[in-house]
Amino acid sequence: MVLVVGGAGYVGSHTLLALREAGREAIALDDLSRGHEWALLGAPLVRADVTDLEALRYVFGRHQVSAVLHFAGLIEVGESVKDPAGFYHANVHGTWCLLEAMREAGVRDLVFSSTAAVYGEPEHTPIPEMHPRNPTSPYGDTKLAAERLIQAYEAAYGFRAVRLRYFNAAGADPEGRLGEAHDPETHLIPRALLSVLGRGQFTVFGDDYPTPDGTCVRDYVHVCDLAAAHVAALDALRRGESGAFNLGTGRGASVREVVEAVRAVTGADFSPGVAPRRPGDPAVLVADPGLAGSVLGWQPQRSDLLTVVEDAWRWHRRSLQAD
Ligand code: UFG
Repeated sequence: MVLVVGGAGYVGSHTLLALREAGREAIALDDLSRGHEWALLGAPLVRADVTDLEALRYVFGRHQVSAVLHFAGLIEVGESVKDPAGFYHANVHGTWCLLEAMREAGVRDLVFSSTAAVYGEPEHTPIPEMHPRNPTSPYGDTKLAAERLIQAYEAAYGFRAVRLRYFNAAGADPEGRLGEAHDPETHLIPRALLSVLGRGQFTVFGDDYPTPDGTCVRDYVHVCDLAAAHVAALDALRRGESGAFNLGTGRGASVREVVEAVRAVTGADFSPGVAPRRPGDPAVLVADPGLAGSVLGWQPQRSDLLTVVEDAWRWHRRSLQAD
């Protein structure tokens, strides 16, 4: 059985569903502070915080866990600047608690949700895994610290871990059962779509970057492709593989291109204004995903921009109707 820590969150819930659809037995652990019970789609839940070592011991004592997927954590860069204590507690101490409970229970296989934020301002793009790690926010620092903690457990205690560095997670389950539901929502695609639906204002943060159209370029990767990468990572661990892998497409899209895609998919007359740059945003973040292709056998299937925006649009329309 696979333990999915943070299984009620955005990427966690899509992965939980992918595991169950692949016939794998899975149980979620989530405190539902950021995740949603509906996102479990009926999967079993242990409601607990990842920093609750007693609760973790209870789970490992009760279930035959063969591997752990660790999604739980705080993710918002701006929030991490205001609340570094909360981020270190959730993302670093939480990871330590999980590793300790695994060590005691003799569970050694781990897939960890990391981020492109570990690279900081890129020195060159596309970014390979060996690019220097220089995070520019407490969020990135905590994810890098958690990665290093995991590596120390691999060296000392025989753990095997795959660390997956997501670029820009986006999109939703194509059948509309799951999708992105952050509060507050800070990400580009949901904010643009929600504004088309009359929920919230949307502006382009900066059009004076050194990019072809002046807006930031990102590597958007469909959440279902991320989910598939986790399933592939579990198989890779069984084959004895481990390490850090970028999850992106290798292709960048600018904010303007995303705005175009939103206009094409929604049919709305969508012409957002331009606001000043958001502090800390690098101009270009694009993955070199070659290693995930060669070692994990992972290739994105749904990550072209129009498919990502179509799937997200279906989800947001449906979730607002259900409101
Ligand atoms: N943007 C806008 N308007 C908005 C929201 C975003 O123009 O209302 C722009 C941002 O300035 C940025 C791009 O859209 O240029 C993408 O922004 P997101 O907030 O969607 O994503 P980020 O690239 O900032 O964040 C992602 C991950 C983080 C990770 C970070 C690494 O979501 O977890 O990359 O830098 F930390």
